[in-house]
Amino acid sequence: SVAPASWDKPLDGKVAVVTGAARGIGATIAEVFARDGATVIVADIPAAGEALSATANKIGATALALDVTAPDAAERLADFAVERFGGIDIVVHNAGITRDKLLANMDEGRWNSVINVNLAAPHRITSGLVAKGVLKEGGRVIDVSSIAGIAGNRGQTNYGASKAGVIGMVDAESPVLAEKGITINAVAPGFIETAMTAAIPLGTREAGRLMSSLLQGGQTVDVAETIAYFASPASNAVSGNVVRVCGQSLI
Ligand code: NAI
Repeated sequence: SVAPASWDKPLDGKVAVVTGAARGIGATIAEVFARDGATVIVADIPAAGEALSATANKIGATALALDVTAPDAAERLADFAVERFGGIDIVVHNAGITRDKLLANMDEGRWNSVINVNLAAPHRITSGLVAKGVLKEGGRVIDVSSIAGIAGNRGQTNYGASKAGVIGMVDAESPVLAEKGITINAVAPGFIETAMTAAIPLGTREAGRLMSSLLQGGQTVDVAETIAYFASPASNAVSGNVVRVCGQSLI
């Protein structure tokens, strides 16, 4: 496609899915997509029910209770989107978790849950949607990595590995998806003030902030606007990239 009908609504007529959208960065991505004219499906775990409905209602999105690690997550998402909206144009793999522990205490449970949510699920869902032909030509896949996947954090072996894995996955999936006219890109946010980072010790957060030459982390909207670019026709020729959103990183 060339330019959108209106640059005020660059996602007009597009169906966009955002996972982990009940709160935090995901909720802001959904809000920016709605502003840009997309029909938005916000997905999150069943336990996020009320927050998810509130996010959906606020922006006129449709809520879907979906644990991205469910073996049939791609199928459920595909069926839901096809039945209601005829397919999917944009999918943002934003759902993510941390289960931090230093190396000696990094048990299998913590390792597996983080790898499953942050890395295996995006892969399984992208591949499932493409296999079913639900993600159309001109489609967009956007993964949320992290600065922790580029420069490690103490206690985040699992999280750093999952987010570095996302970057490798985007690189590898890009030429394959290109054959179907679909782009895939990632963002790597730095310290963004959300419920997830509220759990990180203040000293660690402050150290992260100081590693940015702008001496700040970003806001959720900074991540969302970068993702909106990857979702829009402005990025038709852009695939296989990772953009850091963390002020200007010195790493
Ligand atoms: P958050 O914890 O505020 O929100 C994450 C959302 O994902 C929650 O609503 C949660 O219920 C949902 N979620 C968790 N497991 C899920 C599952 N199995 N299925 C569906 N939904 C699930 O976190 P935040 O900060 O908004 O993070 C969003 C993304 O950005 C994550 O991938 C995170 O790793 C990434 N990120 C965040 C940074 C930050 O500084 N906050 C920095 C770099 C990356």
